[in-house]
Amino acid sequence: MLILGIESSCDETAAAVVSDGSKALSNVIASQIAIHEQYGGVVPEIASRKHMEAILPVIERALDDAGVSIRDIEGIAATRGPGLVGSLLVGLSAAKAMACAARLPFAGVNHIEGHIAAIFLADKKPSFPFVALVVSGGHTHIYRAGGVGDFQILGQTRDDAAGEAFDKAARMLNLGYPGGVVIDRLAKSGNPAAVRFPRAMKGSVDFSFSGLKTSLLNHVKGRGEAVSPEEMPDLVASYQEAIVDALVEKTLMAAKDASIPRVVVCGGVASNSRLRERFFAEGKVAGIEIFIPQPVFCTDNAAMIAVVGDHLLRTGRHDSLDLNAVSRWPLN
Ligand code: KG4
Ligand code: ZN
Repeated sequence: MLILGIESSCDETAAAVVSDGSKALSNVIASQIAIHEQYGGVVPEIASRKHMEAILPVIERALDDAGVSIRDIEGIAATRGPGLVGSLLVGLSAAKAMACAARLPFAGVNHIEGHIAAIFLADKKPSFPFVALVVSGGHTHIYRAGGVGDFQILGQTRDDAAGEAFDKAARMLNLGYPGGVVIDRLAKSGNPAAVRFPRAMKGSVDFSFSGLKTSLLNHVKGRGEAVSPEEMPDLVASYQEAIVDALVEKTLMAAKDASIPRVVVCGGVASNSRLRERFFAEGKVAGIEIFIPQPVFCTDNAAMIAVVGDHLLRTGRHDSLDLNAVSRWPLN
């Protein structure tokens, strides 16, 4: 079955064609980063306007890249939430209009479920049940996935999301937006043990990153002078290590507690090279199999939305064309 997926929940306008819920034939992503960068974060009104400009060319390009036309498509899936409603509405409306015009079944998809489902685009797919760590700009949740659409929260952040911890640190250090990518790159040449940042809530499967952020602020202020470019790699490598420690330790703990030897790590932060390296190494030691999508399917994309759409439409769960966008939509 060929599904066209559409994603516009935040600052990426994306469309993709996926075959049988497992193979991306195309994956087009128009990023607005360059525009929002100057404001240090996503400006919702600008995001909606940019989505409107990009949505049709992005969809056309996704069909072209896959070498198909709308007549070959068997169903359309779009992100319904959670996200910025003004942004979501652009992709959702385009999807509904196309479904109506081409008389195709349509499904609204949960963005977080999409992040988890991205793992089914990989060659190595996990079997159920598995433990899923979703780490993005707005989410840091550990779920038990018992089957498609069957999720139970095992742990979550009490304050900031992991992606936010990266983005806020980068802003504090004037490294630009989005912070995760810059810190990932700079940290490669730094010593992760140079500065000892606190590890919060040890022994629990819940997270807290706000103390870490404050600790970075105190560290920078306490020096009385700006962090030099030579010192930056050590500082960000140490900060990143505190986040990675928490994510790896707590997720493996949750998997052990649940007696599930399979862990899926997904969401934008899962593209972090140190996080990937540590999960694979420590999963091996713990006897837990680690599954992480390719980096391009970790950050926001529409192929992951098409994977969920494939399952929904295959099992007869169509949505009607009056489906609305929602800013909040808990998975469980
Ligand atoms: O999943 P995503 O693309 O969008 C949301 O659904 O939020 O995640 C975006 C988040 C941002 O906070 C960004 O800084 C972070 O993912 N991120 C990274 C990396 N690439 C993106 N964090 C750490 N290392 C990276 N390489
Ligand atoms: Zn996302």
